[in-house]
Amino acid sequence: MKDQYSVLGAAPKKEDLKKLSKSDVHLTISNLSAGYGKMEILHDFDLFVSKAQSLCLIGPNGAGKSTILHSIYGFTNIFSGKIEIDGNEITNLTPAEKLKKVGIAYILQDNSVFPDMTVEENLLMGGYIKDKEEESYQEAEKILQKYERLRNRRTQPAKVLSGGERRLLEISRALVMKPSVLLVDEPSIGLEPKYIEMVFEILRDLQENEKKTIILVEQNAKKGLEFADIGYVLVSGQTAIAGSGKDLLNNPDVGRLFLGG
Ligand SMILES: Nc1ncnc2c1ncn2[C@@H]1O[C@H](COP(=O)(O)OP(=O)(O)O)[C@@H](O)[C@H]1O
Ligand SMILES: [Mg+2]
Repeated sequence: MKDQYSVLGAAPKKEDLKKLSKSDVHLTISNLSAGYGKMEILHDFDLFVSKAQSLCLIGPNGAGKSTILHSIYGFTNIFSGKIEIDGNEITNLTPAEKLKKVGIAYILQDNSVFPDMTVEENLLMGGYIKDKEEESYQEAEKILQKYERLRNRRTQPAKVLSGGERRLLEISRALVMKPSVLLVDEPSIGLEPKYIEMVFEILRDLQENEKKTIILVEQNAKKGLEFADIGYVLVSGQTAIAGSGKDLLNNPDVGRLFLGG
């Protein structure tokens, strides 16, 4: 009987992972070993994703999915390996540099809005690191024009928002910096089903119409794989299975071990 760890035996090779991205790879991780303190969580990890592609990381709790996002953003200790954007190495930049100079935004797992600040003020917080305040106002205004749900509540405290609207605000706040890569950790967590659909529609729109590259972690593996172009199944800090989102949904091992079916 196979268990979640047995699938590690036939781990995909670097070339296989590369083929899942398009020719114009935007973000690359090569041979990354990283963790917290002296503890290594990710072992010789590779990832390839092109501009305007989406990649979903699934796998058991504690596998290291969030640690991958943390490593890209600069929250971990990197022992070896390389992270590149358009061929330029960014491995050791700080999170502030990643956000400001490279255009990588990290969207927190949940509950990161400031409840007593207005919707508009929350949005502007997304640009706090920008040098040009005027640009933040312009971006915030664009976002408010785009999302009626936020526009209607722009002067109200964020605590009046529904769970789904709050998630929309969290995503929108990251957009104020005009990032090219969005790192999204469990966007569906804690949301009612109707809002889960909404959040994935928003991500779809950002990918297709605004050409954002999206790397997401999703506990709801079925939803995540339906959404993403590429899926990686992470087990014990290594990629055990990789494929297009569709292929993984139809993979019997993935179904039985990770989709609960
Ligand atoms: N800030 C941290 N400090 C130390 N260990 C951590 C930290 N965050 C996560 N870990 C450990 O790293 C491992 C991978 O965690 P994580 O990446 O959060 O897994 P996942 O997102 O796949 O559930 C776990 O063993 C977890 O306990
Ligand atoms: Mg996690």
